[in-house]
Amino acid sequence: MKRIAVLTSGGDAPGMNAAVRAVVRRGIACDMEVYGVYHGYAGLLDGQLALMNAGSVGDIIQRGGTILYTSRCDEFRTDAGQQKAIEQLKANEIEGLVVIGGDGSFRGAHKLTEKGFPTIGIPGTIDNDIPGTEMTLGFDTAVNTVIEAIDKIRDTATSHERTYVVEVMGRHRGDIALWAGLSGGAESILIPEIEHEMDEVIQRLMDGHRRGKKHSIIIVSEGVCSASVIGDQIKEATGFDTRVTVLGHVQRGGSPSAYDRMLGSRFGARAVDLLQKGEAGRMVGIQQNRIVAVTFDDVFNGVLKTDNEMYELSKSLSI
Ligand code: F6P
Repeated sequence: MKRIAVLTSGGDAPGMNAAVRAVVRRGIACDMEVYGVYHGYAGLLDGQLALMNAGSVGDIIQRGGTILYTSRCDEFRTDAGQQKAIEQLKANEIEGLVVIGGDGSFRGAHKLTEKGFPTIGIPGTIDNDIPGTEMTLGFDTAVNTVIEAIDKIRDTATSHERTYVVEVMGRHRGDIALWAGLSGGAESILIPEIEHEMDEVIQRLMDGHRRGKKHSIIIVSEGVCSASVIGDQIKEATGFDTRVTVLGHVQRGGSPSAYDRMLGSRFGARAVDLLQKGEAGRMVGIQQNRIVAVTFDDVFNGVLKTDNEMYELSKSLSI
């Protein structure tokens, strides 16, 4: 393969730039020409492609977001849109495409491969909600961002002896809530995968209060419900001075952690190696610290496991 392209798609995630850098530089090392596609699939349909060199990806490994920009594109979901994308790629003599994004982005990539165009996916989303990989790019940084916020909230919560309900991202999966809740010492963690009993949450708060706790922090994953709903229920049942904080898109930004830079670099290099070997229709992932290649079918049919052990541990430690 002599000419490939790379794009980022869907919600951005810290570490995407590290992956773009690795794709470009590994490609160059393999004597390939590497094109960057701007604005995801929407940009691909518009022919927004530019040849990258080693210098075009200099000074980006530490930057959050994506230098290629990103988008969510309805036209690309159609058969005609996918055909148009393939025509654009072929017109530029591109033979393979690396797609950095989440599940929705891979469904698009899978369609291209079904239509005969080789693609490889790199899992990039802060949600950590893609089967076939134990970690997605950006998750580690997002968890650290949440922890930093919780630590700060804890300071003011203690000073005012308040209860805080903190809403974090994660539409379908509560990993951000679970990891940040455990490492931030939250009193309760509410995630979409495990049904919660509000009576139990309130009982835990009251028990802590009785034992002399000066503040409490409850983490709610956005996939459960709005944090303000939980805040109102707590206020009504306990009478505690309660505040709600929604962390929002702050969680998607920031300089990637060392782990995400490492992951992006390893994912990007392996994606190029796979295309070079003639492989397609796969996503790179990490399992037991080894970089693996999983078919898109396995990704789409895979089941995400909830870490019940971690959930129970957090409960038993935040007494
Ligand atoms: O997919 C990542 C994610 O950050 C989700 O956690 C969140 O629900 C969503 O994207 C927000 O999307 P948008 O940027 O379109 O508001």
